[in-house]
Amino acid sequence: MTENAQTPPIRSARPEITATLMVETGLDEAILTTLVHRFYDKVRADQVLGPVFASRITDWDPHLERMVEFWGSVALMTGCYHGSPVAKHADLPVTWAHFEHWLVLFRETAGQVCPPVGAAHVIARAERIARSLNLAVEDAARPHAQPPNLSSSTGPQPVGGADGRA
Ligand code: HEM
Repeated sequence: MTENAQTPPIRSARPEITATLMVETGLDEAILTTLVHRFYDKVRADQVLGPVFASRITDWDPHLERMVEFWGSVALMTGCYHGSPVAKHADLPVTWAHFEHWLVLFRETAGQVCPPVGAAHVIARAERIARSLNLAVEDAARPHAQPPNLSSSTGPQPVGGADGRA
């Protein structure tokens, strides 16, 4: 296959979408790599977050590589990240205050490393993911009640439509 304008200089399962997002956001693999490395340098040196990461990650190189793939998938839709972030965070000893602090460091780093549109792009996605990871942590910490008996006509009814959405 020959290289053309639709072939982004980053591995992607959806090269045309990735190429468009790169133009729109000004992000590329080099910027995402710098973002990830600078961000985790700050995280590792941080008094609050550093110990949480240190208790789970001893070999940082594979983690950083995975995080570059993650941000390629999230920001540029490369489809290169395959993992289960929710499961990895659900049992961490963290609260929303930790996520807020994580976001402060992430916003700061994105502002330093990315062009403004790209920074806004990754920050919006980080904020959304942080909220869902925090919900997973809260849910895992909650003592699980008996599942509702949905076959009973007097029992609790599912919220929203048949697909469970409100
Ligand atoms: C309180 C804030 C956070 C803490 C303390 C935290 C901590 C961690 C730790 C310790 C791991 C490694 C888990 C393991 O390999 O056992 C990890 C992995 C990961 N984190 Fe976080 N994290 C935080 C927030 C976030 C946020 C906001 C995102 C996304 C925007 C994120 C995305 C990921 C991803 C993608 C992985 C890799 C999961 C995999 O192995 O595939 N984390 N995190």
